[in-house]
Amino acid sequence: MGFVEVAKWSELSENTCIAKTVGVISILLCRKNDELYALENQCPHAGSKLSGGCFKGYVIECPAHGHKFDVRSGFSIKNADGFPIPCFNSYVRDGSVWVDLTKPFNFK
Ligand code: FES
Repeated sequence: MGFVEVAKWSELSENTCIAKTVGVISILLCRKNDELYALENQCPHAGSKLSGGCFKGYVIECPAHGHKFDVRSGFSIKNADGFPIPCFNSYVRDGSVWVDLTKPFNFK
């Protein structure tokens, strides 16, 4: 599949995260310091959506039970050895957000 266009950069305000659906995958796009981060929109704890959770610094807090994850790595901020949220390579070009959903970079 490779990179697919998933959103317009203008949809994503600074310090916010939005959810987009690509096929059957819900992804979370986060913008911080004018950088883009893309990860699966599903908490590894019990599967809740992360969208709608509090986003502070580079940390998204799951709205279900409060677990916190670094959007740059997908790992829990309390347990870096735990099961991470899959993170995807992404970029912005000509006002569009592109994400490669084929190979999360934090999974071996
Ligand atoms: S489902 Fe996210 S913390 Fe429980």
